[in-house]
Amino acid sequence: MVCLGNICRSPLAEGILKSKIDSSRIYVDSAGTGGWHAGELPDPRSIAVARKYDIDITDQRARKFDRSDFDLFDYIFVMDNSNKQDVLKLNNYNDANHKVQLILDEIFPGENVDVPDPYYGGDDGFEQVFKMLEEACESIARRL
Ligand code: 4NP
Repeated sequence: MVCLGNICRSPLAEGILKSKIDSSRIYVDSAGTGGWHAGELPDPRSIAVARKYDIDITDQRARKFDRSDFDLFDYIFVMDNSNKQDVLKLNNYNDANHKVQLILDEIFPGENVDVPDPYYGGDDGFEQVFKMLEEACESIARRL
């Protein structure tokens, strides 16, 4: 699960998907294309909305997406088109680009919809993001 800072959207996506799959069989992680928040806890607003729905994401720490993630993971879900561009730029000339998918393609296939960045907004933005990711992760979990 990849976003920009790895403190708002992708930690929620990681926590939600983990709550829906068997962690002994499927490994889920998240990262940011930027490294400014590396080592930090998720944003308190993400922690709060996850907790509201009984998901604890306080074991997570932000990290920067690395080129090697293309080898380590079978699927790379990006939150928006800008994340997608940044991730693909790291992987020039590699045939693993097919692993990269906009996460909302799961529920709005082909419509090119971004998960909005809630960082500069209010708490309701985090609630909306949670609901979108919950629906997308339900679809991913069923498919996996
Ligand atoms: P995220 O949100 O990509 O969903 O984690 C952001 C978090 C931090 C910043 C931008 C977006 N930032 O500029 O620090």
